[in-house]
Amino acid sequence: MKIITKAAMVAVGAALMFSGIAVAESPHDGAVKARQGDMQMRAFNLGILGAMAKGKVEYDAKAASAAAHNLKVLSTLNASAMWPQGSDASAYGDGTTASPELWKNFPKVIEATKAFSAAADVMVTAAGKDLPSLQAAMGVVGKSCGGCHKPFRVKKN
Ligand code: HEC
Repeated sequence: MKIITKAAMVAVGAALMFSGIAVAESPHDGAVKARQGDMQMRAFNLGILGAMAKGKVEYDAKAASAAAHNLKVLSTLNASAMWPQGSDASAYGDGTTASPELWKNFPKVIEATKAFSAAADVMVTAAGKDLPSLQAAMGVVGKSCGGCHKPFRVKKN
């Protein structure tokens, strides 16, 4: 669905260009794409762990450990350049779900970032151990994602 939307946008963009109307580009496009890429990688790696936790995929200590380590690495990125002023949903528009609240509550954002990092540590210890340990750590990690998404993302229509 998202890919279709993007393709449609590209088509519209091309049509506008050919008709001589400039399509506005934001200086924040790269930063928004980068942070969404970071988030997609979090979701991808958590998805690997989640599939094992639910028994949809057979538990594999090595693969679980790799996914947990990736989450940890992602939690250590210095992401400050990916969140420039003016790139929230009210200023930047539909291309982002980052709430303006994020820029007004930096101490809380840092707290949420630390919670994710601590949860990744728990997962790194648990994931390669055995399936019950992985399962027990899932909630901690999921909660750390939600703990930031709830206050700092806007809902898309
Ligand atoms: C400290 C805050 C924070 C934490 C922690 C966090 N996220 Fe996010 N996440 C956000 C924000 C803000 C956005 C909106 C980014 C945007 O659209 O510009 C987002 C967006 C996303 C998206 C949508 C990306 C896209 O392409 O539009 C996914 C998927 C996601 N997060 C997954 C996760 C997962 C999985 C975790 C935990 C392992 C996590 N996030 C932890 C703040 C956070």
